Amino acid sequence: MKRLAVLLSGRGSNFIKIYENIKSGVIKNAEIVLVISNKQDAPGLAYARQAGLNAIYLNPKDYPDREEYDRAIVDLLKREKIDLVCLAGYMRIITKFFVESFPNRIINIHPSLLPAFPGLDAQKQALEYGVKYTGCTVHFVDEKVDHGAIILQEVVEVLDDDSVETLSARILQKEHIVYSKAIDLIVNDKIYIDGRTVKFKKV
Ligand code: GAR
Repeated sequence: MKRLAVLLSGRGSNFIKIYENIKSGVIKNAEIVLVISNKQDAPGLAYARQAGLNAIYLNPKDYPDREEYDRAIVDLLKREKIDLVCLAGYMRIITKFFVESFPNRIINIHPSLLPAFPGLDAQKQALEYGVKYTGCTVHFVDEKVDHGAIILQEVVEVLDDDSVETLSARILQKEHIVYSKAIDLIVNDKIYIDGRTVKFKKV
């Protein structure tokens, strides 16, 4: 059984979907043993507490800098013997120290088809650019923002009358499916990284 940690900053719908998909067996051989938030009032954190999970708020203001904050997080992750760290709407750039503490064991979901539209407000960026298709990407986390090897992507068509809200909602539906698929692939050892390309292991 692989031990998962989820880091979040807000609503937590991706986290909740992962949690449900573990319970229902869509994701096999995994359990969420730790949820960490950098926001005290994150609804995702409240949900985790209600679900009886080990849910921890760490206030960035209690630490002198980013690295010290990430050291505290890495300590918690190591203490809990975490196998895979899932960033799920975690709106903080993580330090090199954090990335190097868990090489190829941190993944993220981003609401665009990377490398298009990294950073904040990816759905708004896509609408303003005028692309016809966007989507979401699950990727390994490296030292650069929204940059690591891509695990899975899903495409979403942009409609003429889309607003940021309607487009984001359709992308989110795909996020909820693709993030769990990616986790299932990793924890069940079905993929490997070749250069910066993620490939399926031959059975
Ligand atoms: C999701 O759309 C996720 O892709 C995005 O934040 C949202 C979190 O929603 N993440 C990023 O933009 C990271 N760069 P959730 O809290 O309901 O899972």
